[in-house]
Amino acid sequence: MFSQVVIYYFTGTGNALASANWIASYANQNEVPATVVKIEKSLKADPSSFSADTLIGFCYPTHGFNAPPIVIDFLLNFPKVKGGKAFILNTRAGMKLSKLFTPGLSGLAQLLPALILWLKGFRIVGLQPMDLPSNWISLHPGIRQKVVDSIFGRCEQKTNRFAEKILSGKKACKGLISLPVDLLISPISAGYYFYGRFMLSKTFIAGSKCNNCGLCIKECPLNAIRMKNNRPFWTWRCESCMHCMNSCPIKAIETPHLFTFVLWWLVCSAIPTAIIYTIANDNIFFERNFGLIFDIVLFITVLPLIFFSYRILHFLMRFKFVSWLIVNTSFTHFKFWRRYSAPKKFLKPKN
Ligand SMILES: Cc1cc2nc3c(=O)[nH]c(=O)nc-3n(C[C@H](O)[C@H](O)[C@H](O)COP(=O)(O)O)c2cc1C
Ligand code: SF4
Ligand code: SF4
Repeated sequence: MFSQVVIYYFTGTGNALASANWIASYANQNEVPATVVKIEKSLKADPSSFSADTLIGFCYPTHGFNAPPIVIDFLLNFPKVKGGKAFILNTRAGMKLSKLFTPGLSGLAQLLPALILWLKGFRIVGLQPMDLPSNWISLHPGIRQKVVDSIFGRCEQKTNRFAEKILSGKKACKGLISLPVDLLISPISAGYYFYGRFMLSKTFIAGSKCNNCGLCIKECPLNAIRMKNNRPFWTWRCESCMHCMNSCPIKAIETPHLFTFVLWWLVCSAIPTAIIYTIANDNIFFERNFGLIFDIVLFITVLPLIFFSYRILHFLMRFKFVSWLIVNTSFTHFKFWRRYSAPKKFLKPKN
């Protein structure tokens, strides 16, 4: 059916790479040569390497109910292939509560890339969400190893069934089952794309344990960390893929929870309200249109305030007391919070 499979992947903590490797192994075992290619900022797909019977796949995590921006950019620059066949597998935040496996939510994570590919002439033959362990360590503690193993066992089987179907020429579009919910939450995807991701890029800080080894800077797939005054500094290019936080050898990267909570309350509520009352006290027009004016002020001020506060925090972290306070009010600092990475054995292709 297909002469070759080329799978492009982006990953923060290995889930999407594991899925790409499972599909590639299945293809290789069935005598369809498969290649797995990492999506990087500089990567440009070469159309001369595809033939009419090449199956092209895209595996990546779901970020803010959407595909990661680096993947969207890659797809927008992807060559037009009239009649080409493509599949999409987005990994999501899978969990397990007692014996129940719970799914994540895709939002636009499949729909937008599918639309882009369709406009480029592709036929979409597979849309598959894969509920691998959630890696959002800023939000919740890392999942226990036993649960990780159990989720991986289930997902490996699901991915093989998906691979079997698409490689035998059938369509496999399970991703469409949740279409109504995905469309319903699409405004949140837009909010995350235009605002949320920039705010989250400023929720990482290196604590006093950091020994400046530079690994986080070297390994960041977005080249988003700079060394400033001997301390890693997270720029707005960060897409919160969670790679750095989960791979720092001495777990020095924290999400400053108390700082973030107070800052976000200030910039999303208290400061816009104070600005409106300061410039328009007792003005009937402002009172009547408070909601709209609040949104406009928030829209203009929120990112500059977040970026400026992060610079101040980064500067203050050189003082022992501030550093101690920030680290000790970060949940990520405590042992029970754990970190997450996909099991290493899944990050290499099976022979
Ligand atoms: C910033 C961020 C946003 C996320 N948003 C979603 C989401 O909207 N829906 C979802 O199901 N999972 C979400 N997740 C979870 C990841 O998509 C999921 O853990 C994925 O399997 C990670 O894949 P990776 O290891 O290849 O990076 C999010 C994770 C992060 C870090
Ligand atoms: S990897 Fe960890 S220890 Fe090394 S520079 Fe980054 S934060 Fe510091
Ligand atoms: S800074 Fe960390 S979380 Fe952000 S993109 Fe780079 S590795 Fe991912």
